[in-house]
Amino acid sequence: MRQPLVAGNWKMNGSAESIERLLDGIKGSLDTVEKAEVVVCPPFVYLSDVRRQLTGSSVALGAQNVSEHPSGAYTGEIAASMLLDFQCRYVIVGHSERRSLFGESDSQVAAKFAAARAAGIRPILCVGEVLEEREQGITEKVVVRQLDAVIEEVGVEALADGVIAYEPVWAIGTGKTASPEQAQEVHAFIRGRIAERSADTAGQVRILYGGSVKAANAEALFAMPDIDGGLIGGASLDAEEFISICRAAV
Ligand code: PGA
Repeated sequence: MRQPLVAGNWKMNGSAESIERLLDGIKGSLDTVEKAEVVVCPPFVYLSDVRRQLTGSSVALGAQNVSEHPSGAYTGEIAASMLLDFQCRYVIVGHSERRSLFGESDSQVAAKFAAARAAGIRPILCVGEVLEEREQGITEKVVVRQLDAVIEEVGVEALADGVIAYEPVWAIGTGKTASPEQAQEVHAFIRGRIAERSADTAGQVRILYGGSVKAANAEALFAMPDIDGGLIGGASLDAEEFISICRAAV
């Protein structure tokens, strides 16, 4: 059985004050979340504060990015070992905003995945097509390219303790969610592709859906057999909305 996972990707939002309020709200209602493992991914500079505020709660800490290098002259970068110092259990790698706005390549994302694992942090690998690619009917081809880069780097079994997030880029922050059937189709494809190499790994790896998930659509998405939870952007900044989404993960 795969335990559902709901991860809040706060992106570059919040302040010390607003984050404290948000966490108070999340912690206050957390006991109503039965099944899901809950993770929040604040901006790097708030990791320490958030860790302190989460002490004694079951919410895990994650980061939004990590360097592929272990240490050295990489101004502005953060190493996986540093994230571990702050007890980050997860880190998002290859988010579409990193790929499109900061030019991260498939091989760089694969190296980040490997660096996180080497430090004992579970990577959340984001994959997904842009609208043009969906319209051209090449969604599967794009996802395979992104996935295979990681499999080549770390081997298929390494995916088992990581997480995959299928995020159609056209659904991120746009209010346009993939329908549960559209999402399930890609999730089943990804799991099938992994199963061709390792049935055990395919059965274990959690595949999250991301892209305009809200309390109103979470239940239908999470009811799909290959959707194991969600990576939540905008809606994770509202405690009530986020908790409702976490409750929908069964
Ligand atoms: P969204 O973002 O929920 O605001 O669409 C999801 C994500 O980018 O991870």
